[in-house]
Amino acid sequence: MAQSFDLIVIGAGPGGYIAAIRAAQLGLKVACVEKWRNPQGELALGGTCLNVGCIPSKALLASSELFEALHHEAGDHGITVGQAQVDIGKMMARKDGIVGKMTKGIEFLFRKNKITWLKGHACFKGRQEGRLLIEVSGEGEPVSCDAAQVIVATGSKARHLPAIPVDNVQVCDNEGALALGETPKRLGVIGAGVIGLELGSVWRRLGCQVTILEAMPEFLAAADESVRKEAWKQFTKQGLSIELGVRIGEVTRDAKGVRVAWTDSKGVDQVLECDRLIVSVGRVPNTDGLGLDAVGLATDERGFIPVDAGCRTAVPGVYAVGDVVRGPMLAHKAEDEGVMVAEIIAGQKPHIDYNCIPWVIYTSPEIAWVGRTEQQLKADGRPYKSGQFPFAANGRALGMGAADGFVKVLADEKTDEILGVHIVAASASDLIAEAVVAMEFKASAEDIGRICHAHPSMSEVMREASLAATDRRALNG
Ligand code: NAI
Repeated sequence: MAQSFDLIVIGAGPGGYIAAIRAAQLGLKVACVEKWRNPQGELALGGTCLNVGCIPSKALLASSELFEALHHEAGDHGITVGQAQVDIGKMMARKDGIVGKMTKGIEFLFRKNKITWLKGHACFKGRQEGRLLIEVSGEGEPVSCDAAQVIVATGSKARHLPAIPVDNVQVCDNEGALALGETPKRLGVIGAGVIGLELGSVWRRLGCQVTILEAMPEFLAAADESVRKEAWKQFTKQGLSIELGVRIGEVTRDAKGVRVAWTDSKGVDQVLECDRLIVSVGRVPNTDGLGLDAVGLATDERGFIPVDAGCRTAVPGVYAVGDVVRGPMLAHKAEDEGVMVAEIIAGQKPHIDYNCIPWVIYTSPEIAWVGRTEQQLKADGRPYKSGQFPFAANGRALGMGAADGFVKVLADEKTDEILGVHIVAASASDLIAEAVVAMEFKASAEDIGRICHAHPSMSEVMREASLAATDRRALNG
């Protein structure tokens, strides 16, 4: 017998599971379909973010930073440690433990909010008497369900290059790169994007020689130019070898490793020999086997499901959120869209200001920004003023041994409204929150300059950069 719901959410990543919880909080009868299996073969909630993305990568990031601090920073503090050793197995087990805690946490939240987890793959089967029909194929016979509304939150998958098959042993995407059994001596990375830089940094800190090959003549093209320059300076100083403007040729592999033929920006043929290769050249939306045409839905030419500002598709009752729709592929963007759609379905009038969605790259130092870059403001023809302040002049940063980087505040020339904030700093991912609040409340740079910031703290740099953007000028610079 068919099971009936008010809402079926397809996918339990940050977009889907948050949408399901918010809709249940608002009184809807909700089911969420998820088929993900972890390496132990167990079904797991949480999608890419929790299982093979944000959460495991941040666990490895912390482990590798601790290792590097013991090696290179402890001495500066007058602390002598013996030869630090890495036990990759234990490091991976710690990471897997954190992932397990988080995914089980969502199972608990589903039970608490009385959300039905339909275990398997969802496929649209059409519409009957106004209700959307979904078939879920898992273990055993397929289950038929119907709902008044459906949210597609199926996320994305790693884009692979046709000539470079990924086996997640020698040639890895994000999944394999988070589960290497030992530190490779030489790691090659194709693509100097977010994943390439984050995971390249993790393995470099653990002692690996990392070479990143990037097709574009610039790296981090979406970031502010001053951030790009600072990041380049820091990453190359740390020992990451990044080659820009390359063309990848033939990739071959044997028992000894992987051989990547590539042409450099001057047209000279080169060869990279490495033990492992990570392919991180972007992600593509996931709509495989969803049966979208059964309800009259089509993807655009890049595979995304077209939606309006409220994440409504062209088909009444069907919404789509997260990586499967336009906009940045960021977990927090997906979460906010999930909440928005749940509230729209419940009759509320929520709204997302996409200009206030922060970007974070978890390198060391971290990079975070919100709003417009200086290059975008120039292209917009918007008169602006800029204030920048370095962490090198901040007592807390010096005490922490984290004096690299800066905060840059861009404000409207006349009104002083903050238009963009760009941070390179050890804790940029947390510091950016103040900038997001400021921009959501249409604060001026002077507003931030007049707010009391705790001393000594990294957040003082946000205040100094804001002051530097006004006529009042920075106090400590
Ligand atoms: P990305 O889009 O950040 O970077 C891909 C890079 O590969 C680009 O620089 C591109 O020019 C380069 N590239 C493409 N084809 C190439 C080729 N044939 N040869 C050499 N270089 C080539 O994609 P990435 O790093 O795979 O990440 C995927 C998505 O996951 C991103 O959209 C990102 O937003 C998301 N993500 C976000 C994180 C965060 O917010 N901290 C962390 C990890 C991923």
